[in-house]
Amino acid sequence: MSPLLPPLLLLLLSTQDALALRICSFNVRSFGEAKKEDRSTMDVIVKIIKRCDIMLLMEIKDSNNMICPMLMEKLNGEKLVSVKRSYLYRDHQDGDEDVFSREPFVVWFQSPHTVVKDFVIIPLHTTPETSVKEIDELVDVYVDVKKRWKRENFIFMGDFNAGCSYVRKKAWKNIRLRNDSSFIWLIGDGEDTTVRESTHCAYDRIVLRGPELIDAVVPGSNGIFNFQKAYKLTEEEALAVSDHFPVEFRLRTSRAITSNKKSVTPKKKKPRRS
Ligand SMILES: *[C@@H]1O[C@H](CO)[C@@H](O)[C@H](O)[C@H]1NC(C)=O
Repeated sequence: MSPLLPPLLLLLLSTQDALALRICSFNVRSFGEAKKEDRSTMDVIVKIIKRCDIMLLMEIKDSNNMICPMLMEKLNGEKLVSVKRSYLYRDHQDGDEDVFSREPFVVWFQSPHTVVKDFVIIPLHTTPETSVKEIDELVDVYVDVKKRWKRENFIFMGDFNAGCSYVRKKAWKNIRLRNDSSFIWLIGDGEDTTVRESTHCAYDRIVLRGPELIDAVVPGSNGIFNFQKAYKLTEEEALAVSDHFPVEFRLRTSRAITSNKKSVTPKKKKPRRS
């Protein structure tokens, strides 16, 4: 298999019976045949994915398309969200063509059970050396998607390689996704999304835009899922799964809101003001 095989980027819909929608992003380093055959590692990967309702998986290296069907089989269940539309962003603007190493595959989700009924996910897996430019360029993708679909709620997430030597402190002020305060960063620069004890870098990020979406985030639900700790793995066992931890956050469901409101104002519903 060629090492230059374009990594596959996919969004898996899985299920969870909880009071919030958990949205995750995970670089499962080089997920191909070898990992698929390693049972204990596969068990951990499936457990990690099962925690999430929407999962962005990066670095699936699978030219025979075996991994997706196998995962879908293991993740069977009811869907909480549906895909309204999707498109592959075309990186063709004059002057800065082909900034992205992997063009973002943009997905518009409908989510009937959450407070916010619809949102767009713009995924990104950068090449470390060009991550500053790629993260900045996400604003152009945002403008393009907004014009195309007239949406307000946006989630940018993935392995941005947004830390350590790849994005230095002084670079941030010239990255539009960062210097425009309408974009809210859920994973901070001080976080460690790497599994190796010897590294501490916030490579994996989640960024939101849209007041309605931002309001719907479950407070404190954003962070890193340290599966090594959660499943009591050694560093070696964890590294067999990936060198990245997933990042995630949750969105409030309408059900949670309804019961909350009831307890606050146990009165008859007033007519809605416009
Ligand atoms: C944000 O970054 C862009 C791109 O580098 C730059 O043109 C702009 O002036 C910056 N804005 C602020 C407020 O610093």
